[in-house]
Amino acid sequence: MHNDVKEVLFSAEELKEMVERLGAQITKDYEGKNLLLVCVLKGSVCFMADLMRAIKLDCKIDFMDAKSYGNSTVTTGVVSISRDLNYDISDYDIIIIEDIFDSGRTLEKLTHVLSARGPKSVACCSLLDKPERRAPGVTLKLEYTGAQVPDAFVVGYGLDYDEKYRNLPYVGILKPEVYSD
Ligand code: IMP
Ligand code: MG
Repeated sequence: MHNDVKEVLFSAEELKEMVERLGAQITKDYEGKNLLLVCVLKGSVCFMADLMRAIKLDCKIDFMDAKSYGNSTVTTGVVSISRDLNYDISDYDIIIIEDIFDSGRTLEKLTHVLSARGPKSVACCSLLDKPERRAPGVTLKLEYTGAQVPDAFVVGYGLDYDEKYRNLPYVGILKPEVYSD
């Protein structure tokens, strides 16, 4: 285990099972639809790469980048889109693929922005959900969730602190003494 990690929450094997389960659900629900998976950079890259291979349907993929964090562990509340899709999405059933649903502002903003472009449907799939941290006023619900996590800062399997730890193969709680704030 990495020295800066206090506790492993989900091992590589547990993550694999979680992703297989989500892939099977999506495969069942999107049969016959025109699926476009939208990966939210960068935290969702590991999840996206594994999940798309667990979905046994034709689908397309694209990427968006939305930032609400900077290098802090506390959200700023402002979500900006710094990379947009390459597709006209009007013919697609979209699933937004996110690493973690925290305050909820990022997914709420992306859902709003993409829905306004008139796709067939928009759903949200987040590997992790931190329900205790939801911002007041956020009403969005996830269609697909891997697992809930406690109110602690987690890293690994794509999730970072200050751009580090994304390459850990597991999800773990970062030692609080590692944060600068
Ligand atoms: P939200 O807009 O507050 O829901 O935040 C979503 C984004 O914040 C996620 O896509 C993550 O990049 C980041 N984030 C939230 N909580 C954590 C955490 O515990 N570890 C790492 N990144 C996090
Ligand atoms: Mg992030």
